[in-house]
Amino acid sequence: MNIELTDRPRRLRRDGIRSLVSETSVTAQDLVAPVFIDATTTTRTPIESMPGHERVPIEDAVTRVEEIRETGVEAVMVFGIPAEKDERGSRAWASDGVVQQAVRRITAETDAYVITDVCLCEYTTHGHCGVVESDAATDPTLTVKNDKTLELLIKTAVSHVEAGAEMVAPSSMTDGMITAIRTALDETGHTDIPIMSYAAKYESAFYGPFRDAADGAPAFGDRRHYQMDPANSQEAKREVRLDVEAGADVLMVKPALAYLDIVNTVSSNFDRPVAAYNVSGEYAMVHAAADRGWVDLEATAVESLIAMKRAGADLIITYFAEKLANQL
Ligand code: PBG
Repeated sequence: MNIELTDRPRRLRRDGIRSLVSETSVTAQDLVAPVFIDATTTTRTPIESMPGHERVPIEDAVTRVEEIRETGVEAVMVFGIPAEKDERGSRAWASDGVVQQAVRRITAETDAYVITDVCLCEYTTHGHCGVVESDAATDPTLTVKNDKTLELLIKTAVSHVEAGAEMVAPSSMTDGMITAIRTALDETGHTDIPIMSYAAKYESAFYGPFRDAADGAPAFGDRRHYQMDPANSQEAKREVRLDVEAGADVLMVKPALAYLDIVNTVSSNFDRPVAAYNVSGEYAMVHAAADRGWVDLEATAVESLIAMKRAGADLIITYFAEKLANQL
């Protein structure tokens, strides 16, 4: 039998040629490592649902970041757990707040590139990402007040930058947050500080472990009226377009794995770098399955990161950063 096959893709899959024709790679320089700084403690506490991660006291912030830098990962995203919470989340913008203190030390003592998450949910007693003026028990129509939240986000972002943050990443899905923060940074002389917008952030079940880690779960209700509906992709374009018009420098899609179509849409339609946030639940799932011997941890994690890059991500925020940096 004479089968005429001229086009044989297998020819390029052998060792030697395989890597030459590889279209995508991930390096430590593409990664951002999240760190959790905890003002409620003086000892490092493991985060059970995120193996390998800890809440770190302010005194250990520099050590923690140095550990990450030693692996080759140069950027960190700082999250804070404040010593006290209140209705408005006022510790979010305090000059001696947990993020501000940690960032001051990290920027003074390390060469890490420091990005801060700008949100209120870790700082409010109710755990919502903004101003809440009623109680869910008495008000079934409870919503986070959009425009009143903007002014608190502005104060938070400016205070992070004044403490030394090199980039701010607003994550509350407040309409107008990029316009408000860009204007405030410019007016305070910080025209060179870029904003990474959590532009298309979905209301996702994949954030479960993070909410334990950062103690930011809503005490009542959910985030459906401000985070995006997982069913929507047109809406992602709208959200991203608004943030581009407002001056966002980097556009984030979050979560990553279940939203690679959105990563691709954003990277194809807009001329800004795209960040994919490989969130806590994605990390926890791989760990849980690997613990049972059902998947190989490193291989599964690396494959996930490559898929994010292939979809169009330029950078990836991932809890795997430190662990994988040496293997990429
Ligand atoms: C704060 C914030 C959240 C995450 C990042 N910033 C939690 C949320 O929106 O509920 C989630 C990160 C993760 O799951 O890894 N708003």
